[in-house]
Amino acid sequence: MSAVLEAEGLQTYYGKSHILHGVSLKVQEGELVALLGRNGAGNTTTMRSVMGLTPARNGHVRIFGKDMTKWPAYRIAGAGVGYVPEGRKIFGHMTVHENLLVPPDRAGHWTVATIYELFPRLYERRTSKGGKLSGGEQEMLAIARALLLNPRFLILDEPSQGLAPVIVQEVMRMVARLKSEGTAILLVEQNAFLALQVADRAYVLSDGEVVYDGSAAELAADTARMNSLAGVSHGA
Ligand SMILES: Nc1ncnc2c1ncn2[C@@H]1O[C@H](COP(=O)(O)OP(=O)(O)OP(=O)(O)O)[C@@H](O)[C@H]1O
Ligand SMILES: [Mg+2]
Repeated sequence: MSAVLEAEGLQTYYGKSHILHGVSLKVQEGELVALLGRNGAGNTTTMRSVMGLTPARNGHVRIFGKDMTKWPAYRIAGAGVGYVPEGRKIFGHMTVHENLLVPPDRAGHWTVATIYELFPRLYERRTSKGGKLSGGEQEMLAIARALLLNPRFLILDEPSQGLAPVIVQEVMRMVARLKSEGTAILLVEQNAFLALQVADRAYVLSDGEVVYDGSAAELAADTARMNSLAGVSHGA
């Protein structure tokens, strides 16, 4: 298996605040990796550093075997990395369909037509404004937009945030399906229990450091260790 992402020794700051203290993680081709941790542990910052949005001051980011450490975010996205940020960031004043026309074309399986097959609900809502959608529909739209780049690697920041449990299950099933179709995924989740059901491997961050790196099943089976590692939530 070759690595889709190799992040090594990331040290990231916001001004003088030192947030990541040498974070290293790997995602292999076709793998679904969960990144877990308490609020403020540094999960979003890790993703932003990988995407070149808040570049690490020290450390290296290799994606698809290429050193992209100094690349700006748009180039990393253009290379085939889809990023669904925390809080979704869809265009509320535009319709669902207009939102789907925003991403630049990158040839591949995902087109607006195949997206509507994957998410029939988005097709039904295609003339509704983004701001009128439910939380679950907004999440689907945010994921759909990232998929239109036909990413080989997808980064998802808390897709279940603020969603009803039944919708969360649906989003997780969709994530598992994308993985089964060959997309490598890095998934940040507060809901460790659900993330570990679909993930192959997991990392747990605490105060900007990796405190667990191993199999998802092993971590899921060891409730005591889950609690002691990061106090991540278990409920659906
Ligand atoms: N723009 C910023 N300026 C200064 N500090 C920040 C900024 N963004 C985040 N931080 C701080 O960096 C730390 C890590 O934040 P980060 O957003 O990576 O956490 P997280 O693990 O994604 O948590 P969550 O999303 O659950 O809040 C936190 O202490 C946070 O307060
Ligand atoms: Mg976050």
